[in-house]
Amino acid sequence: MKHTFTRRGFIRSAAAGSAALTWLSAQKAPMVYAAEADKPAVLGGTPAHAGGWPGWPIWREAWEPAVLEVLRSGRWFRGAGEHVEEFEQAYARLLGAKRCLATASGTTSLMVALHVMGVDAGDEVITSPFTFIATYNAILNMKALPVLADTDPATLTMDPASIESRITERTRAIMPVHIYGLPCDMDPINAIARKHKLAVVEDACQAWLAEYKGRKCGVLGDLGCFSFQNSKHLPAGEGGAVTGNSDDLLDRCQAYHNCGRAYGGFKGSTPYFTRGGNYRMQQFQAVILMQQFDKLVKETEHRGENGDYLSAQLKQIPGIEPVRLPENSYPVWHLYPFRYDARQFNGLTRDQFVRAMGAEGIPCGGGYHEQYFDGLLDEAIASRGFQRLFSAERLKAYRDSFQELKGNRQVCATTVGMFQSVLLAERADMDRIVEAARKIQVHSAAIKKSMG
Ligand SMILES: Cc1ncc(COP(=O)(O)O)c(C=O)c1O
Repeated sequence: MKHTFTRRGFIRSAAAGSAALTWLSAQKAPMVYAAEADKPAVLGGTPAHAGGWPGWPIWREAWEPAVLEVLRSGRWFRGAGEHVEEFEQAYARLLGAKRCLATASGTTSLMVALHVMGVDAGDEVITSPFTFIATYNAILNMKALPVLADTDPATLTMDPASIESRITERTRAIMPVHIYGLPCDMDPINAIARKHKLAVVEDACQAWLAEYKGRKCGVLGDLGCFSFQNSKHLPAGEGGAVTGNSDDLLDRCQAYHNCGRAYGGFKGSTPYFTRGGNYRMQQFQAVILMQQFDKLVKETEHRGENGDYLSAQLKQIPGIEPVRLPENSYPVWHLYPFRYDARQFNGLTRDQFVRAMGAEGIPCGGGYHEQYFDGLLDEAIASRGFQRLFSAERLKAYRDSFQELKGNRQVCATTVGMFQSVLLAERADMDRIVEAARKIQVHSAAIKKSMG
């Protein structure tokens, strides 16, 4: 390394970043020297990282025969072949779930689960605002209202203390989201659901193999939902799954996802005794997924080790706050997020910090924004259907309630995240991330000035 004996090296080996920074501000001469040697890339210095982060998705030639075999068989849809079922059994085993139903996508898995849990037009579902927009959409597609609980700034997940005040006589389900692969605190959520007789559908679309108190996300509520879209840790271009431990619920999911055809114990006296759609997974998706179980397990461990390491290092930098996790839980880091406090960086805004990190060769971005102000919920509540289903007072109160999401507002304004594949790099690369953040902090006043 070019700069091994610079202030950067000193800070790296110092026990605490804050102590190092205090020391630096008290020592004028080394500071001047350090500023030259360690100039941030955004001010013309050398980037902390040379680039070349792992790409995504990763595929192997060894998978080709299985995909080709499906192609040549002509048995491409699940009704004509065994691979989707094989995948379902294997994925259920991996999670410790009794059953799994493969679907076309994460969105369709959420819709299937909501239908089976009895969510109907005019119902309300309490969910997390800090999520990918598909969570909102899945609920809206059921013609139900996504009622937004607040986000706990420390955990980035649904604040259980904000749920009960949002329950109305229309509330049918709670949908916690294990966002970024961070397990929600499920014990209090399940306790509230039991008390009010509500269903719990986990949006585990970013949480393959995440654990909470010894059990996997996706089997902690009534039903769990996963996505296998291209960016995901277990990708197949598109795809999804519903998981659970109840044969009755999973039989109903099977029927609903397959045009309402009878399945297992869920049957009637006529072929089409119940409603349904076509939310089926294809055989191609299933064989691609089947190739990746060992890879998923190994990569999850690798991301876990790097995530823990980053948290331990980054928390030493004043103004960088890694997430707090529920006790005895294991996140899988679909993004590696932290909260950023501009006050500790001479007022350098979150977006300026992100730009400066980008210049250092560290790809990162802000988290989700306040999507409830984007217009989709306004469009829904202005629609004929929603106006028929809900009173004008309810829709007004619903719209007003977005202003109460103080925790979420803070989270949206201050979160910084790095995509999961960054955590697949080596330990030395994690050190470059920490180094970049420290460098930016030391020079934050100058960076702020240069960015205006
Ligand atoms: C939290 C969350 N929920 C739902 C979905 C929807 O999954 P899909 O894109 O497979 O429909 C996603 C996908 O990104 C997600 O991240």
